[in-house]
Amino acid sequence: MSRIFSGIQPTGNLHLGNYLGAVRNWVRLQHDYESIYCVVDLHAITVWQEPAELRRAIREVTAILIAAGIDPKKNIVFNQSQNPDHAQLAWIFNCVARLGWLNRMTQFKEKAGKDRENASVGLYSYPNLMAADILAYKATHVPVGEDQKQHLELARDIAQKFNNDFGVPGFFPLTEPLILGEATRVMSLRDGAKKMSKSDPSDYSRINLTDDADAIAQKIRKAKTDPEPLPSEPAGLEARPEAKNLVVIYAALADTTVAAVLREVGGQQFSAFKQRLADLCVEKLGPIAGEMNRLIADTAYLDAVLRDGAGRARALSRPILDEVMDIVGFVRA
Ligand code: TYM
Repeated sequence: MSRIFSGIQPTGNLHLGNYLGAVRNWVRLQHDYESIYCVVDLHAITVWQEPAELRRAIREVTAILIAAGIDPKKNIVFNQSQNPDHAQLAWIFNCVARLGWLNRMTQFKEKAGKDRENASVGLYSYPNLMAADILAYKATHVPVGEDQKQHLELARDIAQKFNNDFGVPGFFPLTEPLILGEATRVMSLRDGAKKMSKSDPSDYSRINLTDDADAIAQKIRKAKTDPEPLPSEPAGLEARPEAKNLVVIYAALADTTVAAVLREVGGQQFSAFKQRLADLCVEKLGPIAGEMNRLIADTAYLDAVLRDGAGRARALSRPILDEVMDIVGFVRA
């Protein structure tokens, strides 16, 4: 049976990269798979989070997921800390994964930066918790943006080593990443070599899902480009990362391909194209922001969604964890 799991951190602002690389695909996949979507608050605290802000962000992300079209009745939507099975399985995976594997993780290197000695242990073992998120449900497919690919390969390595070490072939599935659409890696609007990120200090580097029409238009107008007009074919975008990024965003939002967009706009100046892009962004994101603002006021509803989701999640993970306990050799009295 196919089962989807995916997660999103409640830190900072959700942005267009999160939407095009992940959330929009979740909305589309929810009809074809049994789907579990998780607000990963345990992952969030691998770097310091102000408690009141974290609580607000968990609810805001929940509201955005629902506003974007995820049906919390048909699917499971919950916050990670409300199902203790994730942390329990993560501990076991801490004892399965090898230091050498974690040392290769590029996200840790990027996030820890030069001050590695001062990074939390949680930031280092972060991918083990991510493997536990997925494998606590024996999820078979994980829709993510391209930046999570290495973490998913690690989850497969952990699954395989667990299965081998304990002589339980096929117990954990080797999960497949689903990296879908034109915009699997949306780049910063200020620097085409950096990915669009919640942690970029410049708000002009990203379009937040909470931005209003004026903010979206202004950010796109100010987005870095080059002086050349748009090319007529995708090959003309190579070595023009900022130009390429804007065309990729347009293609993804319009649900078409880069080649099709360029057939239409090739030869135009960026000023005209940016206006079109801003209009399309407002058309697609405006309704999500509106619905999110309505939902965010209803804390009781959001908390009920998370509570209900956590209960249903735990009902799925508990029997799997019980089996894991038996396999590892713990006594369950
Ligand atoms: P997070 O919160 O950084 O991002 C959530 C999702 O958004 C995608 N994404 C992007 N896609 C395209 N372009 C971008 N610029 C961009 N930035 C972010 C991410 O690939 C991701 O799919 N470790 C994960 C959360 C996580 C998880 C999991 C994911 C925890 N447990 C289990 C899948 C399965 C993370 O930090 O995502």
